[in-house]
Amino acid sequence: MTTENTNQLGLGLLRQPHSVIFGPGQRAQLPYLVAQHGRRALIVTDARMAKTPEFSEVVVAFENVGLEVRVYAEVSPELPRENIQQAAAAYSDAGIDVVVGIGGGSCLDMAKVTALVLAQGGDIRDYYGENLVQGPVLPIITVPTTAGTGAEVSCIGVVFDAERGVKVGVASSRLEPVATVIDPEFTLSAPPGLTAATAADALSHLVETFTDLAKNPSPEEMQQHLYVGKNVLTDIYCRHGLQLLNQSVERIAADPLDRDARADTMLAAFCGGMALNTAGTAAVHALQSPIGGLTNTPHGLGVGALLPYVMRYNLPARVSVFAELGRLLGVADSTAAELEQAIAGIERIDALLAALRVPADLSELGVTEQDLAVIAEQAMLSTRLLANNPREMTERDALGLLRRALTGDRSFPELS
Ligand SMILES: [Fe+2]
Repeated sequence: MTTENTNQLGLGLLRQPHSVIFGPGQRAQLPYLVAQHGRRALIVTDARMAKTPEFSEVVVAFENVGLEVRVYAEVSPELPRENIQQAAAAYSDAGIDVVVGIGGGSCLDMAKVTALVLAQGGDIRDYYGENLVQGPVLPIITVPTTAGTGAEVSCIGVVFDAERGVKVGVASSRLEPVATVIDPEFTLSAPPGLTAATAADALSHLVETFTDLAKNPSPEEMQQHLYVGKNVLTDIYCRHGLQLLNQSVERIAADPLDRDARADTMLAAFCGGMALNTAGTAAVHALQSPIGGLTNTPHGLGVGALLPYVMRYNLPARVSVFAELGRLLGVADSTAAELEQAIAGIERIDALLAALRVPADLSELGVTEQDLAVIAEQAMLSTRLLANNPREMTERDALGLLRRALTGDRSFPELS
């Protein structure tokens, strides 16, 4: 029926922090972890988080174990380059030993890029791209307060460069955090909109990496590139993460204070981060980037809105994987035809996105027919992500997909 690329090497590759601490209340371990890496800690966060009692408690706990604490609390959404310039100017002579990011994805990315410029100097622009960091960075510790981005474990920092009008990634295995403390209690106060957007992001990471291209890279390619596509180790995280979201998304949508569901979602987001850190995201993320810039809509809502249409586009190249997804999510009959199982899996993901009230099509995000050509053209620039997509996507393909996504056309492709 289809020619699916497979991981003929049996390759598995993970990149991960030395220490991962997960669990409700486990933020109590944070000061001791930080102290293992030095005495002078810089915490980077945003203004909202800095005002919370939980944040004040963290600072006091640091001081109680003898840490000297500096706080940069001005991280803005999307992480503008100016934030990094400000922090570098303020703390380059402060003898910082360790950088701790507390907050959503932008705060965690800020910790990575600040640890880089404090250790290696220069401007963050010097490092835009893949593997351009030549020496060690300061130890990075991440403490996520949302469940979705996977930034707590990934070795990429995404920066918005306003002068150039683009979001750019700084990707290097040297940006891998030394530790992450994932405490689901931090997410209890997240408002419904943020919870939905971040959960949709986690779902997108898991589906994209589970269905990624299997690249079968040479040893040389593995040295040059961070993303090796779908592999046997990321699949472990994908399977577990998808099952966790399958059982928790509808519960957190109905009751944001459901602690067990919050914990499951946070663990799933971590699984998504572990998977994307070596497999890499693909067409959903390539297409969302220009849409986010154009409409100023949250990343999670954009990827969530695109996911149903990209799954359908990719289906011909991934029938057996989507069929496995259907079985994993408990909606596919294993005795049925594979295509039927695959469609059941895709429709279950649609239902989870609907439970999160993610926009059902691109018009809900404010995209118009006139925008589509520019979105398709700009998405083609994300070559690093499109290289992970299991089915080749040309600009013309992208335009066709975007048209279906704009009008809510969820028909399935004809497969022979
Ligand atoms: Fe994402």
